[in-house]
Amino acid sequence: MPFPATRLRRLRATPVLRDLVRETRLSPADLVLPLFVQASTASRSAIGSLPGIDRLSISAAVEEAGEAAALGLPAVLLFGIPDHKDAEGSGAYDDEGIVQLATRAIKDAHPDLVVMTDVCLCEYTDHGHCGLLRADGSVDNDPSVELIARAAVSQARAGADVVAPSDMMDGRIGAVRSALDEEGLGDTPIVAYSAKFASAFYGPFREAAGSTPAFGDRRAYQMDPANGDEALREALLDVQEGADVVMVKPALAYLDVIRRVKDATHLPVAAYNVSGEYAMIKAAAAAGALDERAAVLETLTSIRRAGADIVITYHAKDAAAWLT
Ligand code: PBG
Repeated sequence: MPFPATRLRRLRATPVLRDLVRETRLSPADLVLPLFVQASTASRSAIGSLPGIDRLSISAAVEEAGEAAALGLPAVLLFGIPDHKDAEGSGAYDDEGIVQLATRAIKDAHPDLVVMTDVCLCEYTDHGHCGLLRADGSVDNDPSVELIARAAVSQARAGADVVAPSDMMDGRIGAVRSALDEEGLGDTPIVAYSAKFASAFYGPFREAAGSTPAFGDRRAYQMDPANGDEALREALLDVQEGADVVMVKPALAYLDVIRRVKDATHLPVAAYNVSGEYAMIKAAAAAGALDERAAVLETLTSIRRAGADIVITYHAKDAAAWLT
């Protein structure tokens, strides 16, 4: 029935009514905090383009993980910054590598906190690409996948509860699944960065991790931002290869993709509210252009409304504090 019988404002009249009919809930339990762990940092070192986020020593990461757990966050996602980078990204699959050491330390101190680890070579290669290079500078898919599977096994052996491959090589989810299974790690879930776009919004992360490609860009392996159907193909292939959770990344410019992936897979869907998205809100808030708390909560709610079950975000600690 149209107006005047129908008046949608009736259910908006008071906070209690609005709360009663709210369709999307946001809770600390939905959020994952990314942590940058660096071998050479004494305790903490600031990241210029990510105000409020530091590179952490292992003991600082243990402390930060404890704060996350105390705020009700269920998980952290670890990124490693090694002392030494080489052409093969060997720090990624070194059993004594930075992420492996940090994982053990965090699990010892906070056994109930879920530790997820990012599986990629780009933080560990001297050229900054996500795999091994051929002589012509292109990334060689199949040998890269073998190293990525090795990194996942090494991280899971170190105690990672969940591994999250972010490299965008073809076939890596199947390879990671079989490598884990062969090593007796069949219970370790895979969160696949399935639809990861070649985005301008990773800039601050690359400053943090020192992982800007030394030449070229990532468009020959990460997805074209224009493609939604292809994102579904990526997600469905990862499901076939054994992904337990599929991810869309970045989040805000890809809310339609989040919805389509959720509807097509019926799997738990994660969305990565990436570094550039965080930096934009921080810069606008610092300039007095918007209210940070309101903007963050609206943003995270919109990512949940689009269909994400899990939101990976640098705002996680602030949001958890505001929500409780
Ligand atoms: C590594 C990786 C990147 C991010 C997560 N994993 C960087 C990239 O692909 O260049 C970006 C996260 C962010 O911007 O917050 N492959």
